Amino acid sequence: MAKILTLTLNPALDLTVQLTRLEPGQVNRSEAMHTHAAGKGVNVAQVLADLGHQLTVSGFLGADNPQAFEALFARRGFVDAFVRVPGETRSNIKLAEQDGRITDLNGPGPEVDAAAQQALLECLERIAPGHDAVVVAGSLPRGVSPQWLQALLTRLKALGLKVALDTSGEALRAGLAAGPWLVKPNTEELAEALDCPLLSLATQAAAARRLHAQGVEHLVISHGAEGVNWFSAAPALQALPPKVSVASTVGAGDSLLAGMLHGLLSAHGFEQTLRTATAIAAMAVTQIGFGITDAAQLAQLEQGVRVHPLIEQ
Ligand SMILES: Nc1ncnc2c1ncn2[C@@H]1O[C@H](COP(=O)(O)OP(=O)(O)OP(=O)(O)O)[C@@H](O)[C@H]1O
Ligand SMILES: [Mg+2]
Repeated sequence: MAKILTLTLNPALDLTVQLTRLEPGQVNRSEAMHTHAAGKGVNVAQVLADLGHQLTVSGFLGADNPQAFEALFARRGFVDAFVRVPGETRSNIKLAEQDGRITDLNGPGPEVDAAAQQALLECLERIAPGHDAVVVAGSLPRGVSPQWLQALLTRLKALGLKVALDTSGEALRAGLAAGPWLVKPNTEELAEALDCPLLSLATQAAAARRLHAQGVEHLVISHGAEGVNWFSAAPALQALPPKVSVASTVGAGDSLLAGMLHGLLSAHGFEQTLRTATAIAAMAVTQIGFGITDAAQLAQLEQGVRVHPLIEQ
């Protein structure tokens, strides 16, 4: 069992509203509403907890509406190291219609000032040592710059932690320069960060070599139903997921990341690590939520994952 810290700098309360059909500009009545504490680092923590690891969760949390987060952390036994900031954590509203269409309305979230950023750094200096790895996942809140993220990652590395990063845009670009141990972009996110619209296998391999020289040991590129390419010091591998019926893809990337950390920190073989991680991600898409709810189903999904070496043409 590993001790893992996850950082969610811009968490969200996910509010899912179920309705038959959305009529814009009209009064709409919903059939059901569910609120839950979310954000990529929080999601990754939950999957890692399902896999038996010990979790500390941190980041910035709005002081005015922390209840759903605090209840989740208490229920899951997470150590709560979130810095409270004035205001409310944002809400991400998902309007889910009967035909499967989902409309997202993502809120802005609180502005995080320099004092709160300093408070988080000081908190991490104190609590990060003793953890095996730190996962930094999701977007940046207002007020936090990509350069600050880069400095944070550099500091976490200097504290001796394995740093895993999952973000996008400028934050990913800046974060890559810090040379995190592992990064998990999807193909679009990597293409954007590298300023390269088309990502052939040769381009991916070249990017992996360049990033490797910068300190990135593991480049895990996800591509939805088309699977995962994993570049590391070992020969590159590709995993193709089994065909599953999709209930919701929420948490698929987070599940893949959690699965990769689980295998690597448990010193499983590379093939086994990728196979299990891909099965965990496939399991996430078969559910409305995510997480390891059924060990037998996971074992069956693992058998359906195809892992093979990636050969550059
Ligand atoms: N339809 C699917 N069937 C099986 N597996 C899937 C499917 N969609 C996604 N996955 C698995 O989940 C992994 C992550 O998905 P994806 O590449 O869409 O991540 P992402 O874009 O980072 O998503 P997220 O929105 O969760 O951040 C994929 O590499 C794959 O293993
Ligand atoms: Mg993602």
